[in-house]
Amino acid sequence: MDIRLLTSADLPLIQHANLENLPENYFLKYYLYHALSWPQLSYVAVDVSRPRKSHYDYPKIVGYVLAKMEEEPSDGIPHGHITSLSVMRTHRRLGIAEKLMRQSQLAMAETFGAKYVSLHVRVSNVAARHLYEDTLGFKMEKTEAKYYADGEDACSMRLDLDEIRNQIKREEQEEDDAEDKANGANGHEHADEGDAVGEVGRDPEADQKEKKIKVAVGRGLGVGDLVEKNESKA
Ligand SMILES: CC(C)(COP(=O)(O)OP(=O)(O)OC[C@H]1O[C@@H](n2cnc3c(N)ncnc32)[C@H](O)[C@@H]1OP(=O)(O)O)[C@@H](O)C(=O)NCCC(=O)NCCS
Repeated sequence: MDIRLLTSADLPLIQHANLENLPENYFLKYYLYHALSWPQLSYVAVDVSRPRKSHYDYPKIVGYVLAKMEEEPSDGIPHGHITSLSVMRTHRRLGIAEKLMRQSQLAMAETFGAKYVSLHVRVSNVAARHLYEDTLGFKMEKTEAKYYADGEDACSMRLDLDEIRNQIKREEQEEDDAEDKANGANGHEHADEGDAVGEVGRDPEADQKEKKIKVAVGRGLGVGDLVEKNESKA
């Protein structure tokens, strides 16, 4: 199984999976809006083990998570939101949904500095509630009455991303420490990372030489003395 970022080419298959698995469906342009606005946050699970019938046989997408950043958060806190998640029946209980969710959560914190992630789930959706509450640690915020078009209530849930953010910071710190250590061991603390650019990269002597070149223009080139030659006389 391959978990990778969603691309625009995947959208028809995502829409198909959504129609198969959930009563909440969206126009293709809504998926496209997600893919173009937050390309780092949505992932697909691809069954790469399935033999391809032909060169043009597109690998089967068996699950997806469609996610975004809340554009105008009412609490003013930057946070992500899970728009849709589903896994095909043939591939459930293999840990695919959990992996898709964790990838998206990490990207929200890493790329957009999201402080938490929110979602809605039907009160009757036992499998998804188990996944969110027991496996991923989401907390129930409130019940939103008649949230869905058919009148069912929604659980509004959220997961704090502090732990992931701290983990990212720890890893960055470890990387910095390792780099400092390596530089120290090599004897040059601030290793040269390539040629300098802009003003810093200028060679003043070369600049001076450039200034000494005289360039003649206009009348200096004898343009005024040009006369028309009458070829017919020749
Ligand atoms: C909910 C759904 C996405 C879970 O996908 P999945 O890939 O099967 O889930 P995972 O294998 O990653 O399961 C992770 C955990 O979720 C919970 N879970 C998943 N399916 C469950 C089920 N049928 N009953 C109870 N708990 C379940 C379990 O806690 C499970 O951990 P465990 O296997 O160690 O017990 C999938 O059932 C689905 O697509 N359902 C229809 C669409 C849907 O409801 N989407 C969510 C909308 S908010």
